[in-house]
Amino acid sequence: MADEWIRIAAPATTSNIGAGFDVFGLALKDPYDIIEGRKIESGIVISEVTGPGSESIPTDPEQNSVSIAAMEVLRRCDADFGIEIKIKKGIRPCSGIGSSGASAAGGAFLAHILCGEKLTPQEVVLCAAHAEDVTSGGFHADNVAPCVLGGFTVIRSYEPFEVISIKPPENLGIVVAMPDVLVPTRESRMVLPHEVPVKDMVFHLGNAACMVYGMQTGDLGLIGRSVKDAVFEPARTKLVPYLKKAEAAAMSHGAVASFLGGSGPCIISFYDKSSHQGEAIAESIVALYAEHDMGCETWITEPGSGCRRI
Ligand code: HSE
Repeated sequence: MADEWIRIAAPATTSNIGAGFDVFGLALKDPYDIIEGRKIESGIVISEVTGPGSESIPTDPEQNSVSIAAMEVLRRCDADFGIEIKIKKGIRPCSGIGSSGASAAGGAFLAHILCGEKLTPQEVVLCAAHAEDVTSGGFHADNVAPCVLGGFTVIRSYEPFEVISIKPPENLGIVVAMPDVLVPTRESRMVLPHEVPVKDMVFHLGNAACMVYGMQTGDLGLIGRSVKDAVFEPARTKLVPYLKKAEAAAMSHGAVASFLGGSGPCIISFYDKSSHQGEAIAESIVALYAEHDMGCETWITEPGSGCRRI
């Protein structure tokens, strides 16, 4: 049995977004991975991995995010076939914009389609989150949820699992700046504190609530003021050279918020597309890293949809 190939675009995502550690996520229009697959008799075979950082991606199906997520879907659907997979990375690993999450979500979504779309969107998210757990050292769904569902997502609860998706404001522009440094999520999670003072919890609660209200009502000013993190970004700042200077550069070139994307090293800046240019923000961060002889890739993008067939 060898069936037709199907292709899935699985977008980059930014997570945490200030106060929403492991809770908030946002799908980005660019960049994205392309996951291709077709049914085979049995087992999972990864026959090709290309794109930035592909040399570091395991092709052993037991260790690869795409195949781990796909296997979880096959298991849940009691499937009687296997899948051959080709992976074209558009998102470099260790970027902080959900590279493993896109692979996991793309793999889950691919298998979901091959199985005849029997799962709910939340179940697809959970299959992808299972792969994140295996590969990144912690069960978190804040990248895979927006990657599957699109838009701005909020995980209300992990047990039982419940996630909602909100359509972000039309005028929300996003600059992604990726300096030339690798930050594995597993290591970035190891520097985090295990306990949080009550005053920080209160601070996060207020900002998180207003972030959701801002997304729902399209209030970019409130969104900008609500991107606050008293706990997680401060613990990780040492992992990303010139992070605070890069954020300051973005803010002085029109961003309404600039912050560490997920576990880093990407720096995410929000701006109002109706009044500002993303190019100025991107160039200011690239110039800062160039001063320190470091490269920095940028994307000027916007909120996007979840995984889709292309
Ligand atoms: N919420 C996760 C973290 C996202 O910050 O570790 C990982 O990309």
